[in-house]
Amino acid sequence: MGRAGAPPSIASRKGSRKRGRLRTTRIAAFVSLAVLLALAPAAAQRSAQEPTESRNPLGRDAAAVEAGDELFHERCAVCHGQQAEGAMASNLAVARSVSRGSEAGLFKLIRAGIPGTEMPPQPDLPEGRLWQLVSYLRSLAHPAEQPPVPGNVAAGQAVFQRAGCAGCHVVNGAGGFLGPALDSIGVRRDSDKIREDLLDPSAELAEGFGTVVVETAGGETLEGVLKNEDSFTLLVMTADGGIKTFQRKQLRSVHTPQRSQMPADYGQRLGPEEVQDLLAFLDRQRDPFVPVRRGFGNY
Ligand code: HEC
Ligand code: HEC
Repeated sequence: MGRAGAPPSIASRKGSRKRGRLRTTRIAAFVSLAVLLALAPAAAQRSAQEPTESRNPLGRDAAAVEAGDELFHERCAVCHGQQAEGAMASNLAVARSVSRGSEAGLFKLIRAGIPGTEMPPQPDLPEGRLWQLVSYLRSLAHPAEQPPVPGNVAAGQAVFQRAGCAGCHVVNGAGGFLGPALDSIGVRRDSDKIREDLLDPSAELAEGFGTVVVETAGGETLEGVLKNEDSFTLLVMTADGGIKTFQRKQLRSVHTPQRSQMPADYGQRLGPEEVQDLLAFLDRQRDPFVPVRRGFGNY
């Protein structure tokens, strides 16, 4: 019996030695974690929440969408619902930050969370994983899931021309550049949102198409869409589609009012039937989704 009892005691001693070694590695890990944490604030400040690339390198790649879907299940579905359809937190398939803003903006939002709300930051996810989430969320804005918007599409196209929309918006490869291209608008936005854009354009400005008002040293005031800026210069697109460069130091003032360059009176100029036909026409603009890029590019 004594001999039979021996092995367990050896085993348990071995076991405790193993546990001892485990403890040492844990301590080592703890120390390096502490060092990392001490360095973290500096590193975090440097990289902020910015991704290294401004566009999603994964795009709508099917494998990326699927991996993003899985990750979404693990981390996000508890609040946003299994298909992001909304539960305790909002429906992300129609959320503005998903369907409208830039990919980099969505990346930053997911990484940083929304301070002051339940929306948590994701500091531990590497960039590649965050982009997978972006790929997944973007894939939700899929046209097939919405029934076609009722209305006369051909009549809507005529309204689009008559009302001067094409002067500022590209559709079918032709049109102006002051506003965003609309050839994938039917994929990116649901019809209620497009109606809002149309009737109350200043409620929310499409990213990269905000208004800027500058006053030159000579007292001349000029406004347009701010296409690009750095510490020294501003690039402004004016209503005629021309681009003007301003040196900041030569300007008396620069304002960016929450006011769209798009006319605000379409609600009065167009009858309800014209609006409905226009919405039907815009709903059919379903070129593959290409996200907003800041700067000169439209889509
Ligand atoms: C504990 C709950 C919770 C979790 C987990 C969570 N969120 Fe959120 N999320 C919120 C809340 C709350 C808001 C802001 C208010 C709202 O949209 O209901 C929000 C907002 C958002 C928005 C902006 C929506 C808009 O209307 O513009 C996005 C995008 C988003 N979350 C993505 C994610 C992703 C991706 C994950 C997983 C990595 C995630 N969330 C995990 C609670 C959560
Ligand atoms: C003078 C130029 C101008 C005209 C004319 C104009 N728009 Fe716009 N539109 C803009 C600008 C600039 C924006 C971006 C700022 C904003 O969100 O309001 C915009 C935004 C939009 C958006 C939102 C796009 C997005 O990506 O979120 C829609 C939809 C739209 N316009 C539709 C129309 C329609 C339909 C007409 C004609 C009835 C029209 N616009 C006429 C300049 C114009």
